Amino acid sequence: MSQDAKKRAVAEAALEFVVPGELVGVGTGSTANAFIDALATARGRIDGAVASSKATAARLAEHGIRVVELNSAGNLPVYVDGADEATRHRHLVKGGGGALTREKIVAAAAGTFVCVVDDSKIVDRLGRFPLPVEVIPMARSLVARALVRLGGRPERREGFVTDNGNEILDVHGLDILDPPTLESELNQIAGIVANGLFARRGADMVLIGTAKGVERI
Ligand code: A5P
Repeated sequence: MSQDAKKRAVAEAALEFVVPGELVGVGTGSTANAFIDALATARGRIDGAVASSKATAARLAEHGIRVVELNSAGNLPVYVDGADEATRHRHLVKGGGGALTREKIVAAAAGTFVCVVDDSKIVDRLGRFPLPVEVIPMARSLVARALVRLGGRPERREGFVTDNGNEILDVHGLDILDPPTLESELNQIAGIVANGLFARRGADMVLIGTAKGVERI
């Protein structure tokens, strides 16, 4: 079974969590795109969607799904998004697509965060995928030095500007033994807007696409 087929399978499985008549939060990336495609088949059942990026908002609109700003959204029962890495404790690394800050905001606003991944994303320990960190441009060097002191090797994502007008540092070499603690430590560094660890508010449910079907954690 191909990776794309696994992504489609988890995306379709996530439809079960969408609450009829309510809004749904939608993440960013190829698996989230597969979810948008699945959601289009059920768009009459939902009130609309809150997007975690400009790209997702555009794709939702192309599919005829009403896009609602988070500030105007009332109840947001569910958020569905992919991840770059996920553990069986439902801690995640996200931000490979650079949308981590808005993803973290929509996840924080949602009642339930359903993470959809194929089985290549499951790891015992986070950190093999370089940790994305969104930084205010003027603070890039300051933040990079702080990340080196934490044992990381930050690399600027060349030519990339986030939806919020900021830059991304991809941090290699971090050994992430305690994801919630590192997430909090990174949040204390002046100039960091958000980091790609989703551990303090991890996923409530991880759906994993495997060759044998969709597994749930
Ligand atoms: C986007 O910024 C990310 O957080 C994505 O959720 C993550 O990169 C997973 O993307 P794919 O589903 O394309 O692997």
